[in-house]
Amino acid sequence: MEFFQNPQDNPERATLDTTKVVFATHNSRENLMPESKKKFHYSIAKFLHWIAAFIIAFNLLSGWRIGDFPLDQKRILIMIHSGIGTTIFLLMVFRWWWRKTRKLYTPPGWYKRPTMLLQWILYPLLLIQPVIGVVQAAYINYEVRAFGFINYSALAVANERLHSIFLDLHGQAAILLIVLILLHGVERSRKAFI
Ligand code: HEM
Repeated sequence: MEFFQNPQDNPERATLDTTKVVFATHNSRENLMPESKKKFHYSIAKFLHWIAAFIIAFNLLSGWRIGDFPLDQKRILIMIHSGIGTTIFLLMVFRWWWRKTRKLYTPPGWYKRPTMLLQWILYPLLLIQPVIGVVQAAYINYEVRAFGFINYSALAVANERLHSIFLDLHGQAAILLIVLILLHGVERSRKAFI
C-alpha cells in the first residue's frame, strides 16, 4: 500500500501521502472491513426490513376496520394493533441505529437521489405514526393496552374532541404511508426486474 511507504524515501510524496492518509483513515476503515462483515451487516438490515414491511402492512391494512367492531372485540384488536404499532416504533429506531452506525446505504451523493430520500422520509414517518397512535389512544373512551399490559389509555383523561383530531391525523398519516410505501415498492421492483 503506497501511503504506508516511509516518507523519508520520498519527502515530496510524503506531504501528498499525508493528506491521502487522512482521507484513507475514514474510508480505509470501511474499505478494510472484511467483505464478509459488510455482507453480514447488510443481510441483517435486509432481514429487519422485511420484518418491518410485514408488520407495517398488517397495521396499515387492519387498522381501518377496528372502529367497526363491538367494544369487547375492539379491545382485543386494538391490543394487537397498538402492540404491533409499538413494535414498529422500536424496530424503526433499531434499524435507523443499525444503518447509521454501520454506514449502510450511503453511496456517494445518496441525498441527491429521490429513491434514497424516499427511504429517509419513511423512517421519521414510521416513528411519528405510532406516536400519533399513542396520543390518540390516550384520549380514547375505551381501554387500549398494548401487548395486554401497556395501558396507553391511562395516559390522559378521555376527550372525544382530541381523540377524533388525532384519529384523523393517524388516518391521514396512514394514507401518506400507503402512497410512499407503494412508490418505494414500485421503484425497488423496477430496479430488481428491469
Ligand atoms: C406504524 C404503526 C401504525 C399504523 C400503520 C397504524 C395504522 C392505523 C390505521 C390505518 C387506523 C385506521 C384509522 C382510521 O380509521 O381513520 C388506525 C386506527 C387506530 N390506531 Fe393505529 N397504527 C399504528 C400504530 C398505532 C399505535 C402505536 C397505536 C396505539 C398505541 C395505535 C392506535 C390506534 C387506534 C386507537 C385506532 C382507532 C381505532 C378505532 O377506530 O377505534 N395505532 N391505525
